[in-house]
Amino acid sequence: MTDVTSQPAPSAPPRNVTGDSITLDGVVKQYKGQDTPAVERLDLEIEAGDIVAFVGPSGCGKTTTLKMINRLIEPTEGRIFIGGRDVTREDPDKLRQSIGYVIQSGGLFPHWSVAKNIGAIPRVLGWDKKRIAERTEYLLDLVGLDPATFADRLPKDMSGGQQQRVGVARALAADPPVLLMDEPFGAVDPITRVRLQDSLIAIQHELGKTIVIVTHDFEEATKLGDKVLILSEGGHVEQYATPERILTDPATPFVEEFVGSGAKLAYLTVSRVRDVEVDPVTTARIGESSQVVIGRAKAAGHTWVVVVDESGRPRSWPSLPEVASKPEVSDYLDRRLPVVAQSSTLNDALDAMLAASQGATLVTDGRGAVVGSLSIGSVTDVIQTKLAEGHAAVEDLSYETYVDGSDPTPTPIVAAADEPGSAGPA
Ligand SMILES: Nc1ncnc2c1ncn2[C@@H]1O[C@H](COP(=O)(O)OP(=O)(O)OP(=O)(O)O)[C@@H](O)[C@H]1O
Ligand SMILES: [Mg+2]
Repeated sequence: MTDVTSQPAPSAPPRNVTGDSITLDGVVKQYKGQDTPAVERLDLEIEAGDIVAFVGPSGCGKTTTLKMINRLIEPTEGRIFIGGRDVTREDPDKLRQSIGYVIQSGGLFPHWSVAKNIGAIPRVLGWDKKRIAERTEYLLDLVGLDPATFADRLPKDMSGGQQQRVGVARALAADPPVLLMDEPFGAVDPITRVRLQDSLIAIQHELGKTIVIVTHDFEEATKLGDKVLILSEGGHVEQYATPERILTDPATPFVEEFVGSGAKLAYLTVSRVRDVEVDPVTTARIGESSQVVIGRAKAAGHTWVVVVDESGRPRSWPSLPEVASKPEVSDYLDRRLPVVAQSSTLNDALDAMLAASQGATLVTDGRGAVVGSLSIGSVTDVIQTKLAEGHAAVEDLSYETYVDGSDPTPTPIVAAADEPGSAGPA
């Protein structure tokens, strides 16, 4: 292994699309016994191969809309087309076999092994055992779980994030063109959540499915969505556009408030690691001669190296003196190693660095192989640039140009209690 060169991946890689378009045409849902419809009248076009994220306040009709697409909920009015086919006329059971569906915490059958869970729909479809076994192995690998380790496990013997990965694998089992996900990453910790989001983006780039994901987290929506649909009560469309568009040009006061005043910093959540040039790293294989590795690192001007496995996935990042402490490169796994994917946002990268108390993070490609490192300095440079652009946009008011007496705003109070309980409402 030699140096990994620092070539940022192209921002828009050519896409392999296997998904179908989805069209909602005048779709209404009126639940029995409710005064107003949960979804008043929704028209929506989702392009094949896109990820579209639905966001909006609780009760605005996100889940209702999602479930009408696979007819877990029957629309009261209107028509839904998938790949141009009017599915409102199709057998709902057949339809659901051709649409992957992922719910919060995976929704796995608790008494079934991972393999049995993943094979559920293929078995209904009458696939033979061998084909199901091969598909299961492929999918476990795709979602980043070792088939040998996990195929026979029961869901209860896995972490929430691992169960969620199995949920995604199961939804993809019969190779559906459309994947529907309802708050799939709601119940996992923030770091696992970032990993799952990155895996989903990687899977999407590899498979080109059409994915509709419901979330109440605007940041997650902007990270995952090629387009974001912001809904208000009654399934009313406030804005349906790219994340960049929503941030720079909110269509309504509702969107503006929803996005929040941190819109400029929200750029951190739409700026990707792949848009920033990463620094090259020297990699080393387990079992290589430490002297050879040190020589290679010095020649490249590096003070540390990245130890990788056979797939190029990072295990540790020892300094040269650490490397020198053993004759051969160790297989030590550093569990606190900060790692983000190229699809991660700069915000994720900062989180990873802070969580590991490090000034840099490693960057990996869609399969988890290291492609370089990103320093906190590169990230802050991007923030500085964005903030400078932001300041330029704000009208130029300064001490000198201010007209005395023109702003009656009282002095803002910024204070913190020195001791707990020493301050507070009297
Ligand atoms: N089976 C039902 N019968 C009657 N009303 C329902 C039913 N399911 C949902 N609703 C109502 O329809 C509206 C939309 O519900 P929905 O579940 O689609 O919201 P949501 O946007 O997914 O909310 P959340 O973010 O809380 O999951 C809500 O007012 C809800 O109370
Ligand atoms: Mg919901």
